[in-house]
Amino acid sequence: MAKYARITGWGKYVPERVLTNSDLEKMVDTTDEWIRTRTGIRERHIAAPGETCSTMSIAAARRALAVAQLPPADLDLIVIATSTPDYLVPFPASMIQDKLGATKAAAFSLVAGCTGWIYALVTATQFIQTGAYRNALVIGAEHMSIGVDWTDRNTCVLFGDGAGAVVLEASDQPTGIMAFELGSDGADYDAIFFPGCAGANPPSHEVIDQKLHYFRMDGQKVFKFATRVFADSVVRVVSQAGLTPDDIALLIPHQANDRIIELARRRLKLPPEKIMVNIDRYGNTSAASVPLGLVDGIEEGRIKTGDHLVFVSFGAGLTWAAAAVHWEPQEPTAIPVLDWPIQERLARQVEMAGTALWKTRVNLATKAETLLLPFYTFYAGYKKRRRGNK
Ligand code: ACO
Repeated sequence: MAKYARITGWGKYVPERVLTNSDLEKMVDTTDEWIRTRTGIRERHIAAPGETCSTMSIAAARRALAVAQLPPADLDLIVIATSTPDYLVPFPASMIQDKLGATKAAAFSLVAGCTGWIYALVTATQFIQTGAYRNALVIGAEHMSIGVDWTDRNTCVLFGDGAGAVVLEASDQPTGIMAFELGSDGADYDAIFFPGCAGANPPSHEVIDQKLHYFRMDGQKVFKFATRVFADSVVRVVSQAGLTPDDIALLIPHQANDRIIELARRRLKLPPEKIMVNIDRYGNTSAASVPLGLVDGIEEGRIKTGDHLVFVSFGAGLTWAAAAVHWEPQEPTAIPVLDWPIQERLARQVEMAGTALWKTRVNLATKAETLLLPFYTFYAGYKKRRRGNK
């Protein structure tokens, strides 16, 4: 039977410290008005000393596991999407696995910029759909404040820190990701860029002096790319899932700029209440942005069982991703077969017929054997006696 990856748990963590636009006015040549009107951001959370990608991930993951009521020791897989790890090697997956006590889980990190969490969700879903694993923890976490040049007003006003996580568990009923699209266009790889301190520009005094170890972005190029892929990929996944835009209960986009979100909303002709916007509170938290939007949507009561959600993101690479998701965190008690897609219903009927046929064959064979048993016994005894007489 086909397997599906049900989202059964969710959790988020943002650091306590809040940096407002007026705080930034004191640090660089900017204004609250510029930041709000150009980006929609009012404040962001910044990690305290000692807080890192892995510590934020662990906090979000513990909450997600508690909601799913899944003991960490039962976890099969951990995938974390991030571009801002505690260390370049190892990336934080195994540290998180150890601290959670997820002793039997496989763990790896995945890098696809801001798009990483949707890439990770799709990846973990494949492991469950193939039957390889029964469950998975999918984290998106970023410590953006370490990669930002706090003297560069072009970038430092944009980002914040945080983490979001979900738990996936295998289900026989259609739920979780219904359709997805993962995209990449490496021609503009340097539009979102950490140029220094890796293979192309190894660490050196010169690299540091030129500030190549800090985040750089061609904002306008990314803006154009984002407005192009955002609405198009949503349209494609919605139709692949057999839905119409009207069926979307909540669209949860990457929070990079509220103007990008608004342009896409208009193109998709969705009312404002069907789009999750929380960039005002967090800024751009890169790979944590979509799971933070999901958790906030749940906490604000904007998501209910049976809803169809769409996740969409874009970012470094350049990459983009979208996923249409059926939301039903608890296994329903009655199987709503009538709601299933037609091929699922047919597959189920064929499977049930196959099982019934197999049961009948086993029953008949058992009955026939029972009926024939006295003859077998008599024949075996007869053969033995004949051998004895000879
Ligand atoms: N305060 C005041 N003025 C500023 C600031 C600031 N913080 N930052 C830039 N400016 C100035 C610029 O210097 C420029 O001045 P000039 O005209 O005298 O040269 C002017 O404002 C306009 O600058 P633009 O770059 O044209 O501003 P724009 O309207 O394009 O907004 C922004 C910039 C917000 C970065 C926008 O381009 C954007 O959001 N782009 C998309 C970013 C994105 O989506 N990133 C997602 C992927 S990255 C990731 O998520 C990790």
